[in-house]
Amino acid sequence: MKLDVREISGGVYWVGVKDWWRRLFDALIPLPYGTSYNAYLIRGGKNNALIDTVNPGFEDHLAAKIQSVVDFDSIAYVVMNHAEPDHGGGIPYVMRYTKKAKLVATEKGAKAAQVYYGVPSERIVIVKESDTIDLGGKTLRFIDASWLHWPETMFTYLVENKVLFPCDFFGMHTAFGFWDDEVDQLPSLAKRYFGEIMMPFRKMAQKAIEKIEKLEIDVIAPSHGPVHRHPRKMIEYYEKWTTGRTEKKALVVYTTMWNSTAAMVDTIVEVLQAHGIDVRLYNIANSDIGNIAEDLVDSRAIVLGAPTVLGGLHPIALYVVSLMKALKPPAKYAAILSSYGWGGGAVKQAAEILEPTKIEVVGAIEINGPPTAADHEKIVQLAEELSKKIMSDQ
Ligand code: FEO
Repeated sequence: MKLDVREISGGVYWVGVKDWWRRLFDALIPLPYGTSYNAYLIRGGKNNALIDTVNPGFEDHLAAKIQSVVDFDSIAYVVMNHAEPDHGGGIPYVMRYTKKAKLVATEKGAKAAQVYYGVPSERIVIVKESDTIDLGGKTLRFIDASWLHWPETMFTYLVENKVLFPCDFFGMHTAFGFWDDEVDQLPSLAKRYFGEIMMPFRKMAQKAIEKIEKLEIDVIAPSHGPVHRHPRKMIEYYEKWTTGRTEKKALVVYTTMWNSTAAMVDTIVEVLQAHGIDVRLYNIANSDIGNIAEDLVDSRAIVLGAPTVLGGLHPIALYVVSLMKALKPPAKYAAILSSYGWGGGAVKQAAEILEPTKIEVVGAIEINGPPTAADHEKIVQLAEELSKKIMSDQ
């Protein structure tokens, strides 16, 4: 059987796998297009190296691909840019079936490799910023990238080929396409991934971009999604998203039981749109969390609509508010709308969750039952105030 192995640069081979049918990541993130676990084989004059491995369950596939290029046992180094099992899960297999291979990782990575994969310390080479390994005409240089998005993460740069292996950074979840220009929805998928995975680490991401800017890069080879042969485009996206620059845009997320909260949301949306604000509206009950994460990347305001259930936020709204807080979006303003049947509590709980963030709650309206004409008037006033802030801010 002919295996899909690609030479992405001279002596550098994609030996990853596609997981077409995976639909959930971390028991949290929807994967409408599946994903890929990209591993790369580098053939040096003296030694061969493997950059990252694959999710557990795909080890034989990885081994067969490597074997189609070089003898599997010839791998001298297994570079673990990141310990998370979707990339590190194949490490026990590779270490077991290659006699001489050493695992290359940061100091924190070495500890993770022992904890997760039982790699003995004598088979681990610890590297730090700017350390190099010569494979014979191919030099691996390591770049500290801690907290992108785990503490042990690093990037690997192949000097002679000008290829950057940044693991999750610049990645996206899709099994479709191979090169960046073969993926129609690339900016959207990249932004969605950034919102889900990298947004909480924007400061660290900015530092990483500064380091990357000093390198000559022909190809970015991440560990999920397409390989970037137009690397500048991705670097520019990340430059924008990591700064936390927002647009005249409001993310409106809501849930409703008997359409009272929905009626309140309709009014605020109408006014925001009338002011030319880009409104992104999601009914939480039937929305993809990934789309919400994508729009959080550059929304200036968040509007939450949620009824009270049993004295607090409707549980699915609680889930989304907690997630939004954890993702640390750059939004500056918020508004909360809520209806209750016999007793409130949703607004108080939402405000408490948002309180430690830098998001200013411009206003909150909590009503009993369906909104009256007077309630709608109050919502209009809140919408006007929110619009003014969104439009006057940068
Ligand atoms: Fe793709 Fe953080 O693992």
